[in-house]
Amino acid sequence: MVDAGKFGYEGQRVLVTGGGSGMGEAAARILGDLGAEVHILDVRKPTVANHAFHETDLADPKAIDETVAAVTKGGKLDALFNCAGLSQIHPPQKVMLVNYLGHRYLTEALLDHIPEGGAIASISSGAGVGWQGNMANCMELIGQPDWAAGKAWCEAHPVEVREGYSFSKETIIVWVLMNAMRLGSERKIRINCIAPGPTDTNMMPEIVSDVGQDFMDSYPKPLGRNSTAEEQAWPIVFLNSPSASAVSGNVIYSDQGFAGGLFTGQVDIAAMMESALKAKGM
Ligand SMILES: NC(=O)c1ccc[n+]([C@@H]2O[C@H](COP(=O)([O-])OP(=O)(O)OC[C@H]3O[C@@H](n4cnc5c(N)ncnc54)[C@H](O)[C@@H]3O)[C@@H](O)[C@H]2O)c1
Repeated sequence: MVDAGKFGYEGQRVLVTGGGSGMGEAAARILGDLGAEVHILDVRKPTVANHAFHETDLADPKAIDETVAAVTKGGKLDALFNCAGLSQIHPPQKVMLVNYLGHRYLTEALLDHIPEGGAIASISSGAGVGWQGNMANCMELIGQPDWAAGKAWCEAHPVEVREGYSFSKETIIVWVLMNAMRLGSERKIRINCIAPGPTDTNMMPEIVSDVGQDFMDSYPKPLGRNSTAEEQAWPIVFLNSPSASAVSGNVIYSDQGFAGGLFTGQVDIAAMMESALKAKGM
């Protein structure tokens, strides 16, 4: 007999960042349907049903502290879903604050409230697929001890930060991999992430305006279409559920096969990059 509870969240308290739109909103809806008490952190007011909305800017550590206090006043937190993010049309330093520093600051502030068996799932991106070639820079940033040092490092390294988005997403992957053993052995908490390919959410028009339609058309999509927000939400719901109790330090490339094709030399990344640079007039 299959234990349906293995994928259920009955009675669990969860926090979804970015629950105001797209993948976070889809995750919040699924988690509510599965019986969770859903808390949402976002700058945008959610329309999906939730237990509590915490209007919070992830670029503001003080605001994060206040939200952590408000969420944890009600008790433990079983699972954290780090879905919020800014696209590359925003200033690179702001993107780093929201996509990496705020993401990490929130996670660390919540650790003492996540019990054994709890889990963290983050959303990286196909844009972070080059993480292995950029490990040294990612690890240098991850090695910064706190918010102020991390922010100062980003400001002092504009070349490494590039347009912000790709570096923030590479760093999320390396941060997840680096933390899995420690969080597992010290706290019995798991941490994983997904790296989605192009997905139809409010962020998609922003991405197209930056890299151009030609680049998006050349992005390999074996399904013949972009994915949906729900198709990205289910893998993180799985990752934070008891069904994935031995899974930690993993990246699910929820990209229809793009990463696999890239790693095995089947994707002409140089041609893709050329069309993106053309769209930017470079
Ligand atoms: N859409 C894609 O093609 C795609 C592909 C790969 C990865 N991603 C990543 O998926 C995640 C979800 O994005 P989405 O596509 O659902 O986009 P979305 O724009 O629909 O949702 C992002 C959410 O993050 C929130 N947010 C933005 N800045 C914030 C801040 N400073 N503080 C708190 N919340 C903030 C937004 O208000 C929004 O509700 C992001 O991390 C994004 O980078 C998206």
